[in-house]
Amino acid sequence: MVSYKDLGLVNTREMFKKAVAGGYAIPAFNFNNMEQLQAIIQAAAETKSPVILQVSKGARNYANSTLLRYMAEGAVAYAKELGWKNPQICLHLDHGDSFELCKDCVDMGFSSVMIDASSLPYEENIALSKKVADYAHQYDVTVEAELGVLAGVEDEVAAEESHYTRPEEVIDFATRTGCDSLAISVGTSHGAYKFKPEQCTVDPETGKLVPPPLAFDVLHEIEKKLPGFPIVLHGSSSVPQEYVDMCNKYGGNLPNAIGIPEEQLREAAKSAVCKINIDSDSRLAMTGAIRKHLAENPGHFDPRQYLKPAREEMKKMYMHKIINVLGSDGKAE
Ligand code: G3H
Ligand code: 13P
Ligand code: ZN
Repeated sequence: MVSYKDLGLVNTREMFKKAVAGGYAIPAFNFNNMEQLQAIIQAAAETKSPVILQVSKGARNYANSTLLRYMAEGAVAYAKELGWKNPQICLHLDHGDSFELCKDCVDMGFSSVMIDASSLPYEENIALSKKVADYAHQYDVTVEAELGVLAGVEDEVAAEESHYTRPEEVIDFATRTGCDSLAISVGTSHGAYKFKPEQCTVDPETGKLVPPPLAFDVLHEIEKKLPGFPIVLHGSSSVPQEYVDMCNKYGGNLPNAIGIPEEQLREAAKSAVCKINIDSDSRLAMTGAIRKHLAENPGHFDPRQYLKPAREEMKKMYMHKIINVLGSDGKAE
């Protein structure tokens, strides 16, 4: 059994309390490798922003769970070395799909886990989420659970609406599971293709696609039911056009990639939404920068030559999110 406290990590309890009260959100950045981790820690240390290092089941399989534990411990030490006196860093399992996986992460030094049983029937979702919360809380590990199903790119608009979190269920769900935060569905979705062109309108001035707005009415209803309770938004990449263009210009093929407009995330961050999940934007920044570098330098084959600009691009993107979108800069001096 490894305690996250011995690794210098923190759980999400204090971070979320402060974020809800302060009207900002904590960034939850997914990582799979050293360059992403370095970029996240550099950005968080430079801006003094609390940060959630987020690891999916796939990332854990890719990177190896023992190595991840030491990477997280190393991240805390690295943050201090960069001059961040009191790093507020959480290591979080993203979309845990079983009790066993969540338990394994608690036992291996994670300070927070998500149990995503949102695809199960309501009572089964409650039972599994409660089982995870009961186990994790013994070790002061915080638990995120999910209610509602995030839209997939294949869904029709009507079907997406029917999957929104139902505000009338949230009090019962939060009370009976004992979860510490609740991931909800209000129109975001995973990946770089969040809306089909036919779901969007066209801006007459720029000719660009404008996605439909998030369901802020549903979010506000949920807030009213659970005042001050930490709410989580998944699928919150904005899919910056500059990175899509960079990928496409240098040999990529990402037609009609589209994300959540930053103004909407800014608005969400001011509400009870206190954790915003971003993965795809990091993938796009990294891939765009690598494609550009290799296209412009066809003779390069030392990975450091193309991973360095990729890391710099990701750091720039993370800092932009922290300062200009989530407002978490300066919140962990
Ligand atoms: O929510 C999904 C995250 O973007 C992680 O994706 O399962 O491909 O690592 P992954
Ligand atoms: P994006 O695909 O929008 O980056 O969402 C990531 C996420 O929700 C991870 O859980
Ligand atoms: Zn997610």
